Amino acid sequence: EKGMYPYYMLKEIDEQPAVLRRIVQQYQNSAGELEIPNELKQAVEAADRIHIVACGTSYHAGWLGKHFLEKMAGIPTEVHIASEFSYNPPLIKGNPLFVFISQSGETADSRQVLVKVKEWGYPTLTITNVQGSTLSREANHTLLLHAGPEIAVASTKAYTAQISVLAILAATLSEEKDFALIHELGIVANAMDSIIAEKEQIAELAEAYLTDKRSAFYIGRGLDYYVSMEAALKLKEISYVQTEGFAAGELKHGTIALIEEGTPVIALITQAENASHTRGNIEEVRSRGAHTCVCVMEGLQQESDQLVLPAVHPMLTPLLAVVPTQLLAYYATLQRGFDVDKPRNLAKSVTVE
Ligand code: M6R
Repeated sequence: EKGMYPYYMLKEIDEQPAVLRRIVQQYQNSAGELEIPNELKQAVEAADRIHIVACGTSYHAGWLGKHFLEKMAGIPTEVHIASEFSYNPPLIKGNPLFVFISQSGETADSRQVLVKVKEWGYPTLTITNVQGSTLSREANHTLLLHAGPEIAVASTKAYTAQISVLAILAATLSEEKDFALIHELGIVANAMDSIIAEKEQIAELAEAYLTDKRSAFYIGRGLDYYVSMEAALKLKEISYVQTEGFAAGELKHGTIALIEEGTPVIALITQAENASHTRGNIEEVRSRGAHTCVCVMEGLQQESDQLVLPAVHPMLTPLLAVVPTQLLAYYATLQRGFDVDKPRNLAKSVTVE
């Protein structure tokens, strides 16, 4: 039930800090350590490569999964769009593990790959929000998102839950115990709370940047690029502003031609190592007329920046940076007069290939 909320999407955005805390609880053992089922741990440890397969928002979460699995657990990881898998299947050698990420657990494109991979005899894990869903039943292992039902077509809390569960999976396989993920996720949950408490500020930004626009861009580097792709999907699917998420440095290789007087370009800057480079790209588009909006992590901000996010662990910034982009999509859609929860041409769960 959406209760006091005008739309499920807003309710689901608001629930994210609570979902994060619930996930940490669910994956904690009695000794207070993060834990995944032993059979799954063995299956992942036996793998020399992980193939993540997903669609849409879940696919975007997959890129963060790759980052965590490679950086924390040292396992080479590839990310595949499910509907493209059969045309360009990965070259498989050794002992792969296939990981399916799906909020609904019912997505036909992902299921088609799961069926094929099972025929090939490889081990499979589904990360899903729905216990007993098709992809969960058909895979060898399941990790649940514990996000509660997600009703709005635009996926929000499932994305942050997917990233959190992927981080937990990677951390439980990590040799280094110095990264206190439980503690760091707690900091993220609190930071999410403070962004959500100031959502009016984001409503104002939506009004200033997006109300009468036909197109927009999100740009970022590294982890911020992955979030930019998700941010763009969110904005386009409900507000119908044609939005691209772009690697900030790649704009000048062609796409910058689309920048006109007033084109909104929203830049995400959460990583110290690439902040100055992204700032350079912001200047490039600003000098060509773009209406730039900078969403930056505390500590990296400049006075002219529009939105400052509380500082969190550099590897977990996507969990936080996505929240204002969800709110921007929400408010832009309201202001443009469309149905937030039920965008045209879309269904919550896509059960056709
Ligand atoms: O249920 P799934 O996670 O498998 O769904 C995948 C996509 O269809 C889904 O994420 C879609 O892109 C959302 N509408 C995005 O907000």
